[in-house]
Amino acid sequence: MSRFQSKLPILWIFFTIIVILHRPAVARNPHIINFRSPNLYPEGLAWDPSAQHFLVGSFHHRTVNSISDAGVIQTLISDPSFPINATILGLAVDRTANRLLAVVHTFAPLPPFDALAAYDLRTRQRLFLSLLPSPDDDTQVQDGIANPNIRRQNANDVTVDFKGNAYITNSAGNFIWKVNANGEASIFSRSPLFTRYPVDPDDPYKDCGLNGITYISKGYLLVAQTNTGKMFKVDADDGTARLVLLPENLTWVDGIAVRKDGVVLAVSYKKLWFLKSDDSWGEGVMYDKIVLDEEGFASSVAVGGEERVYVLYGHIIEPQMGKVEGREAFRIEEMRSEKESGEEKIWVYVMVGLGLAYFLFWRFQMKQLVTNMDKKTN
Ligand SMILES: *[C@@H]1O[C@H](CO)[C@@H](O)[C@H](O)[C@H]1NC(C)=O
Ligand SMILES: *[C@@H]1O[C@H](CO)[C@@H](O)[C@H](O)[C@H]1NC(C)=O
Repeated sequence: MSRFQSKLPILWIFFTIIVILHRPAVARNPHIINFRSPNLYPEGLAWDPSAQHFLVGSFHHRTVNSISDAGVIQTLISDPSFPINATILGLAVDRTANRLLAVVHTFAPLPPFDALAAYDLRTRQRLFLSLLPSPDDDTQVQDGIANPNIRRQNANDVTVDFKGNAYITNSAGNFIWKVNANGEASIFSRSPLFTRYPVDPDDPYKDCGLNGITYISKGYLLVAQTNTGKMFKVDADDGTARLVLLPENLTWVDGIAVRKDGVVLAVSYKKLWFLKSDDSWGEGVMYDKIVLDEEGFASSVAVGGEERVYVLYGHIIEPQMGKVEGREAFRIEEMRSEKESGEEKIWVYVMVGLGLAYFLFWRFQMKQLVTNMDKKTN
């Protein structure tokens, strides 16, 4: 027997080990980006693929900030033309036009203000600031008398299509605005479905309706509703809506995002859901769910570099409870589905199994050879 042959099984095992080490999804730890900024309390998260960094807003600072992979924070946009203490909520990057879209909202007791701001990501110049209109019929009626104060709207999240049209959810009024590429705003969809499902009157989030929104490349939007846990498929041309059938309610869902492979991620402060559909979101299946750190109060999910999924822990419960100062540390954390890495692991097991089988077979052959040789010599 040649010396090379005797080394074959060793080589095989060596090869298998290299294969195992080489699979990054199995070997790498989840990416955690810690960043510090006093009282930033960011709610919205977006990924800018051309600059390869994340963008986050702020509860009271009227800024949009970039966060590098290593957690370096930089103020990208600071816009003092917004009312003092206005909140930057949803963010979206328009890749085609290299623009940033940001939802601006004021919470009570500040005077109502709801707008969409657009910036050129290269020059950082503001392109437009579009006020979002209240519906004409939206006056509150109290004791039979119409209250002249129009109902407070709550512009919340934003997404953008390939033509630069932005779609913004109104979680107080349960409808969707559209702002076209020139900054012209209108009410886009007021489907009766948005108010059809029961809301628990004791629910702490009973007043928060339509929230996370994401554009799917096939000409429709997916929109999540916090107080019912429902998800709607909305036609991006005419605004008609259908309920997406899901195996469970997405209780207190906030942000949603879509990955290139069609997987939709939905986040609440408690959970991250992994959803997929094989009929363009008539019906969805939930193939994984991750329990989140509740203290971090996750509000947003985004797909970053290499299609990795990230959740923003912005602790926004603190300013919502009236605490506007005291925190400096926030984080963006990669979330991986065990089920997905499980599929990868199977291949590693197959490789190891094959290596082992080959080794045992070789041992068996050697034994035969030795026995045969013993027979011959005897
Ligand atoms: C803005 O928030 C700060 C901190 O809570 C507060 O002291 C200040 O009065 C607020 N300003 C306005 C105009 O509401
Ligand atoms: C979702 O919530 C509604 C009440 O809001 C309840 O009637 C329904 O059974 C829930 N659906 C599922 C699938 O759990």
